[in-house]
Amino acid sequence: MNQKPMKGLILSGGHGTRLRPITHTSAKQLVPIVNKPILFYGIEALKEAGIEDIGIVVGDTQAEIQEAVGDGSRWEVNITYIPQEKPLGLAHAVLIAKDFIQESPFIMYLGDNVIKGGVQTFVNEFKRTTPTSQILLVRVSNPEQFGVAELVEQRVIKLEEKPQFPKSNLALVGVYLFDSHIFKAVQSIDYSKRGELEITDAIQWLIDQGYHVQSHIIQGWWKDTGKLEDLLEANRMMSDALETKISGHVDAASKVEFKVVIEAGATVVNSLIRGPAIIGKDTRITNAYVGPFTSINEACEIESSEIEHSIVLRNSRIIGIRHRISDSLIGKNVHILGNERKIHNHQFMVGDNSKIELM
Ligand code: TTP
Repeated sequence: MNQKPMKGLILSGGHGTRLRPITHTSAKQLVPIVNKPILFYGIEALKEAGIEDIGIVVGDTQAEIQEAVGDGSRWEVNITYIPQEKPLGLAHAVLIAKDFIQESPFIMYLGDNVIKGGVQTFVNEFKRTTPTSQILLVRVSNPEQFGVAELVEQRVIKLEEKPQFPKSNLALVGVYLFDSHIFKAVQSIDYSKRGELEITDAIQWLIDQGYHVQSHIIQGWWKDTGKLEDLLEANRMMSDALETKISGHVDAASKVEFKVVIEAGATVVNSLIRGPAIIGKDTRITNAYVGPFTSINEACEIESSEIEHSIVLRNSRIIGIRHRISDSLIGKNVHILGNERKIHNHQFMVGDNSKIELM
């Protein structure tokens, strides 16, 4: 029986290669979705499930993550940082978390994942049924791009990483529950061809040893935000839940339509904001159009430009870009300044501290 209180383990190290150049300067887990860092959704999901002792595995971006999250008191949880020397795989992250986890059952949550509706149901199910491990699965149309599970009823009999010929359309979601047998598993497996200790190998080890690995197929949506299109998709889905709240100033010449949040200190002048969208605090929107599914972070300036289905990080300026920017992720402290006449659609994936001039 898992009688000890559950702990949480959030993985926030990693390479982040698929989100370069943003990840050259910053942690991908801190990219905001609807102006809130992705990582905070994970912490909130664990807290909501009654988990208050949370370890965060961190790599090169430890300082930035620590500065953003602090000691967890904001969420009334205790945070312990677990430095990972190198991103040697999800199972390696478990291995180095042993001193923190000790004998407790725990939930492992990938810090760049968002799951609608949180994790409480799965935590409760795990506590009630006490398998050795419980994995979450989601039906996908492209299983060859995921870890894929083969089931007999709810029991997992095989896991395969990115199989050429998938045996099911059930992909692994980045949330796992374990009891302390997993430590034996991560100590018993070898590094994979890509040089990582793979969590799928560790779970397969449990299955091969006859331990009970149970599955739960989720019905709601889930996103691994490791790449641009998924990040924008997560922002789109979370934006849908916005409710209009205008705390900043919107002048009489501006129009705000549908679900729009204007945070304190923001100003909207002679502009159209068509929600769902959020305008961060102290941001200024002037003679501009901000379209659906757009999150503009704090202290930005959007002037004489059009933008939609995009995320703009803090302290960036987009000025005089006459033709619409869409499907873009703009880093912190970026300047995009334009003065052009041709009709184009712009798509940007722009890292922090960049400057782009369209002449
Ligand atoms: P991934 O997105 O699978 O890996 P990655 O971050 O290295 O990204 P990419 O494939 O684009 O290079 O990692 C999932 C989560 O787990 C993410 O939040 C990073 C974290 N992680 C660790 O903390 N330690 C690790 O060793 C690995 C591989 C990932």
